[in-house]
Amino acid sequence: MIEVRGLKKSIRNGNRTVEILKGIDLSVPQGQFLAIMGASGSGKSTLLGLLAGLDAPTEGAVLVDGTDISQLPEDKLAQVRGKKIGFVFQSYQLIPTLTALENVLLPYELNAEGGDGKRRATALLETVGLADRLHHYPVQLSGGEQQRVALARAFVVEPPIVLADEPTGNLDSSNGQHVLDLLTKRQREANTTLVLVTHDRQIADRADRRIFLRDGRIVSDESGKQDGNGD
Ligand SMILES: Nc1ncnc2c1ncn2[C@@H]1O[C@H](COP(=O)(O)OP(=O)(O)OP(=O)(O)O)[C@@H](O)[C@H]1O
Ligand SMILES: [Mg+2]
Repeated sequence: MIEVRGLKKSIRNGNRTVEILKGIDLSVPQGQFLAIMGASGSGKSTLLGLLAGLDAPTEGAVLVDGTDISQLPEDKLAQVRGKKIGFVFQSYQLIPTLTALENVLLPYELNAEGGDGKRRATALLETVGLADRLHHYPVQLSGGEQQRVALARAFVVEPPIVLADEPTGNLDSSNGQHVLDLLTKRQREANTTLVLVTHDRQIADRADRRIFLRDGRIVSDESGKQDGNGD
């Protein structure tokens, strides 16, 4: 489903070139819950951004369903991104001038999908416990509420892949648990591929697999859930 080959990312900083990712090979089957761990600065967000096609690699390929998204022209890339990938940012990234409902509806409308997007967006906001916040603007919502709007937005086109960059990093433990439960429920029920960056070992232990980055390389790759509750 996602296949990463020889992925490198360098950034020019003045007259120096900084190598952020130094050759990543990774294959993530459909339906897998993969956690990415590693120290601050190890390249986790950079890798996630490349998987989403939000950024272009210096070398290597990112194949989504066999298509190398790093070689696609911008319009085709936007199509793949719009239909196949939901992205949840650490900092929510809601559009401040749009209500919760409008934020969730936006990817749906950009995809020009038929059907009743408004009903679907409303239903999703109900699922994440925000039925009474549909017409609130982001500034009128708490951090946990904003992150739940961001989840609903990532789910609205029912993408087969959800990428989440520390989605619980700014939340208290009960809101964090709620957001995580929503993500994993969808991964199980819709067989979504879920790639989640986290610093939290307990969260990572719930994943099917964990990879650890150090200095732009994968230094460890562990399979199997660690929590032992058969979940
Ligand atoms: N645009 C940029 N210009 C220069 N350096 C960058 C740029 N983006 C990232 N870096 C550097 O690349 C390295 C990896 O950054 P990245 O954001 O991927 O780390 P991370 O693992 O997500 O860290 P954190 O856990 O703090 O979020 C860092 O050293 C960072 O400073
Ligand atoms: Mg990061």
